Amino acid sequence: MDRIRVKDKEFEVSIPEEKIAKEVERVANEINTELAGKDPLFISVLNGAFMFTSDLMKHITIPCQISFVKLASYQGVASTGKVKEVIGLNEDIAGRTIVIVEDIVDTGLTMQRLLETLGTRNPKEIYIASLLVKPEKLKVDLDINFIAFNIPNDFILGYGLDYDGYARNLRQIYTVVE
Ligand code: IMP
Repeated sequence: MDRIRVKDKEFEVSIPEEKIAKEVERVANEINTELAGKDPLFISVLNGAFMFTSDLMKHITIPCQISFVKLASYQGVASTGKVKEVIGLNEDIAGRTIVIVEDIVDTGLTMQRLLETLGTRNPKEIYIASLLVKPEKLKVDLDINFIAFNIPNDFILGYGLDYDGYARNLRQIYTVVE
């Protein structure tokens, strides 16, 4: 399955399964080293980060907890247009070391919104772990602590990422063929 069709678009494999596994393990090892003794709470952002989170956490060896949030889009009344609300966070994060686990940072606006929301609940510190980053599209100044892959601007799917809800289940990452 090196080339697939999802709805109206063709995609080809850009990051194979073995390469993903290797880099996810590397990221987990970096977290194990850097956050040892900090008792982190991982906050995974659904839906996209489900597969990354699952594989990442299997390699985390330090004591930690994990929770899941969703970002619900709604049309804001302000001129900013779409606003994303964080739902599902029931833990008290005051004084905690937080690791946000995301699938992809594109413009960074989603992550910025998440940081703002979590910041109001007085965590000790917030780290970011993202499977993918599109550095050329970043619009905001973000310190992304743990990154598996920096990738070009093209649209991708698989390994948790979707196109119109499809293809999240694929074990490889695919890039759109123009
Ligand atoms: P940002 O707010 O622009 O950083 O967008 C982040 C969100 O956009 C991610 O959590 C994804 O859900 C989605 N996204 C961005 N780029 C892609 C892509 O190439 N494929 C699938 N989803 C993407």
